[in-house]
Order: sequence, then C-alpha cells, then structure tokens
Amino acid sequence: MLKRNLPQNLKPATKALHADFAIEDGASVSPPIHQSVTYRTDSAEDFSNKAQEPFNDVFYARHGTPTSSRIAKVLAELEGAEEAMMFASGMAAITTTILALVQTGDHIIAQKNLYSSSISFLTKFLPKFGVDITLVDQQSIDNFEKAITPKTKLMLVETPANPLMKITDLKLISRLAKTHNVITICDNTFATPINQTPITLGIDLVVHSATKYIGGHHDLLAGCVVGTRELLMRIWDTSMDLGPTAAPFNSWLALRGIRTLKLRVTEHNTNALKVASYLEKHPKIGNVFYPGLSSHPQHKLAKQQMSGFGGMLSFDIPKGYQAGANFLKNLNICINAASLGGIDTLVVQPAVMFKARLTDAEIHELDITPGMIRMSVGIEDVNDILNDIDSALSKI
Ligand SMILES: Cc1ncc(COP(=O)(O)O)c(C=O)c1O
Repeated sequence: MLKRNLPQNLKPATKALHADFAIEDGASVSPPIHQSVTYRTDSAEDFSNKAQEPFNDVFYARHGTPTSSRIAKVLAELEGAEEAMMFASGMAAITTTILALVQTGDHIIAQKNLYSSSISFLTKFLPKFGVDITLVDQQSIDNFEKAITPKTKLMLVETPANPLMKITDLKLISRLAKTHNVITICDNTFATPINQTPITLGIDLVVHSATKYIGGHHDLLAGCVVGTRELLMRIWDTSMDLGPTAAPFNSWLALRGIRTLKLRVTEHNTNALKVASYLEKHPKIGNVFYPGLSSHPQHKLAKQQMSGFGGMLSFDIPKGYQAGANFLKNLNICINAASLGGIDTLVVQPAVMFKARLTDAEIHELDITPGMIRMSVGIEDVNDILNDIDSALSKI
C-alpha cells in the first residue's frame, strides 16, 4: 500500500475527498468496487474470527464490503463520529437502528413532522410488537419532556423537517435525553453534514437517506447511520439478522457523490434562498417555508445550529389543490418527481405524495394545505429556475 500522511483538522470539502484514504487498497485514485460477496479465509480460526468481528468487510457481503466501509468512513468523519454503517436505503437505516435499540414494553418519543414512512413505521409497525409511541410537536422542548416516562428509550427527531421545514432544537433535545438516559436519533437528510452536525450538538446517532444529498444525482438508493462504536455494534448485530446491507455499487455511487457534497450543498443553499426570497414577494403565493428566511418562525434557532439552510423549501398556493396541480404541470425545468436532494430541481405536491403512507387525518396533522408545493432546489442556474417558476405561476 502507498503511504500517505493525512494532516489533522481537515475541512469538510477535503475530508469528503480523502477521509477514506486508509482503506485504499491500490494505487487507483478512484476507488474500486468490491463486488465479491465472499472472501477466502485461511483457517477455521480465521473463518470464525472474521464471522464474529463487527464491521468485518472482507468476510461475507451482508457483514459489509470494502466499498461500503469507504463511504462509511467519509460519513463518520463529516458527521464527527467514531463509526458509520451503510444500508440499502434510508428506511433500512432507520428501521434497523430502531429495532436494534428497543424491545417490547419500551417507549419512543418522536416528533410529529417526520418523513412519512418513519411515522408509519413508528405508529403502525412497532405497536404490533408492544412498543409505545408518543408523537409531539417538535417546536417546544416541553412537549418532549412531558412525554418522557420511565419506559422511554429513544427520541427520534428530524430537522429541518417535511414539509414546513420546522426546526428541532438539537442541543436542548440531547441535554434533556441525557438526563433521562434516553438515546437520541436525528434524521439529518435535509441538512446534510455540510450544514449541520447533530453529533457535535450532543445527539447520539445520525441517520440519512443517502439517496438524497449524499448521493446527490438521483441514481442510487442508500442510507446510513453514524454514531459511537458501541451503539453501531448493536445496530450491526441486528443488521446480521435483518439483512438491510447496502449493495457495493450503490455504496460506490454514494462515495462518488459525497466527493462533491460541499460544492453541491453550497449551491443548493444559495439557490434555495434566492427562490424562497422570490416566492415570498410573489402575489400568487401565500406562506413560504424556508429556514433561511427571516420570516421563518424558527429562523433564529436555525441560524444557531445550521451553517447553511439547505435546498428544501415549501410554499402555499392559496388558490388550492387544482392550482397547485396546474402549477406543477406548467413547469418545464423543475421536475414533478418523488425524492429530493439531487442536482435537478424536483417538485411535489405533499397533499398528493403523502397519501401513499398516511391517512387524510395524518396529512392534516402535518399542516399540509391542498395547494402546498415542496421544492428541492437543484443546482441549475438560479435564473432559469426562477423563470420556470414565474412562467408556470403566470398560467394559474
Ligand atoms: C428525511 C427522509 N428520511 C428518510 C427517507 C427515506 O429514505 P429512502 O427513500 O432512501 O429509504 C426519506 C426519503 O425521502 C427522507 O426524505
């Protein structure tokens, strides 16, 4: 192996390119894809050791692969944590993490505004196994405190959160949880480690849909969990039974994507602020929800815990459902498609999208209005995005 001495205290843009240098296994500058499912062992003892060793990535691919270890190493460095693990999807990361940490009789507190499948898993799946859930409005720490019982094991938060970009105070949550011996998990998908590092604010575990900003190009499905080695070992152990492991090629695509994360997120931040500011002044638009706007009710908190405000925003077309649907139909650059966090601007009407996993009552609980539009602002020239929006709005 070629020797390199990586300096300490590298900045995120550099870490994204070089943090996995120690896992280099050759002179190739672009990493190889380790597609092999299984690896030779030297003896019964070697076989037995490798089979039991957490995170061993050269035994059998469900345990991990050298390709997933590389992207995991970069993620751990960017989030400021000891360890990370890749999964086949964001939901695989979230469900495996929770299943590893709770058992029958335990209680979980989560915020109401979570990704729809996370809510569905908590409120429809876990109760079948005797795990109790309390959902609270994340805007006040008192709501979390009041919900704590002696059985509370976990708190799950997501910030900024779908679809109103509500912010959760990560420092207060982690302080409260620590005094009650409760493990905290933060879904950091929208913010990315470029804009927010929950672990440095005291949160125990960070999860991502790496399908989104980490991959960044709408061409892979993956997830990850990041945190202490001790917690990750428990999650790894559960993953041996559940089998939610990331495929090598998707890990490789995520690694390729994360190399440019800083560059892309900086552009997403800039473009989204310009789009949000434009929409705020448009006569056909009602409320605009973007944490970077001073009109956002939690702008001050967002400034405290985020170094940029991300590419996600929502806005309301007060004329309602049909006007929202017509707006999407009239766009030519922005694409009406599920997902977010990639280079192309994607738009959805949450009232339509959330129907897949949630009831009408649950959708109403999330403050979703019929004409609401969620936009994942891409890295196109912002003037082209603005012209596209302007033209589509002129037709409704
Ligand atoms: C915030 C958030 N968390 C988790 C997920 C689930 O990720 P995946 O689709 O990769 O399973 C999503 C998907 O949209 C998401 O937006």
